[in-house]
Amino acid sequence: MPKLLLLPGDGIGPEVTAQVRRVAEKLAPQITVDERPFGGISVDTLGTPLSDETLEAAKASDAVLMGAVGGPKWDGVPRPMRPETGLLRLRSGMQVFANLRPALCFPALADASTLKREVVEGLDIMIVRELTGGVYFGQPRGIEVLPDGQKRGVDTQVYTTSEIERVSRVAFDLARKRRNKVHSAEKSNVMETGLLWREVVTALHAREYPDVELIHILADNAAMQIVKNPRQFDVLVTDNLFGDVLSDEAAQLTGSLGMLPSAAIGAPGMPGLYEPIHGSAPDIAGKGVANPLAAILSFEMALRWSFGLHDLAGRLSAAVTAALDGGARTPDLGGKLTTAQMGDAVLAGI
Ligand code: IPM
Ligand code: MG
Repeated sequence: MPKLLLLPGDGIGPEVTAQVRRVAEKLAPQITVDERPFGGISVDTLGTPLSDETLEAAKASDAVLMGAVGGPKWDGVPRPMRPETGLLRLRSGMQVFANLRPALCFPALADASTLKREVVEGLDIMIVRELTGGVYFGQPRGIEVLPDGQKRGVDTQVYTTSEIERVSRVAFDLARKRRNKVHSAEKSNVMETGLLWREVVTALHAREYPDVELIHILADNAAMQIVKNPRQFDVLVTDNLFGDVLSDEAAQLTGSLGMLPSAAIGAPGMPGLYEPIHGSAPDIAGKGVANPLAAILSFEMALRWSFGLHDLAGRLSAAVTAALDGGARTPDLGGKLTTAQMGDAVLAGI
């Protein structure tokens, strides 16, 4: 039986993943759904943000769907006990090196963006963020005290040829199924890893993907172009840190963080990790008003990428579009529906 592991996590995580469970039970009853503690709740109950059991269960599933982790309660705790550290360990432990973050503007929501409708209408960008390397994991790192009493903080940005190649392949393969264009963003003008990134992507392109249009772009310029003329982008591949920043920026183009899913994938046949782009939203947690669509659309990505159930994925995405076209709106979209009512609206279209 295909297996989905839910990691509801913290804040609004349990509320939005509860809707995923309802959708999964109706749309794909052949999938077994399991649940494990993860993040702050796991710190509180098990003394660690990611227990060995949860990591093993994740690796033994076909797909893992996470709600959200973190919150003010755990802001002051030492780094190994931070919910975010659990997330990094999960990504690294599952070896999901390519993070697919679509920024898609739903026609019904074009006016929800802070940018003009004519700039964002029809927008469809896929950011491919490297997820298990770079400055997030590079050694050495730490804060030391110098002899003169000052402190010195160090992070290390590091990439190897194979790390750059495997994530770039995901980007080129995706582009072939889309509009056949890849932007590769780095800072080759100031960083050694940026120079290597450009060199490796250029060589891979010449060797295996000459049919795909490749444009190198400096990451700061990419940040500017994303708000200036976002529709020039099809697939944008970049490192872990630039990908973190640029994907938040691209998400805002679409009007609501509550709408955007993501998929983290590794080698073929390995389980994928799916998560909404939004965080745990402590300000609205427990109120039952969070938008569950990002989590539901993350499940849609899981159906495609991990379960290979493309028909069901198509039906789910049609049900979400129909709910929005029918006027279903949670407060983040200017409406009054609760989380469960938005779930009802999607279920009605399945
Ligand atoms: C993201 C988040 C995470 C990251 C945090 C929560 C560790 O910002 O998924 O974009 O920085 O990768
Ligand atoms: Mg981020």
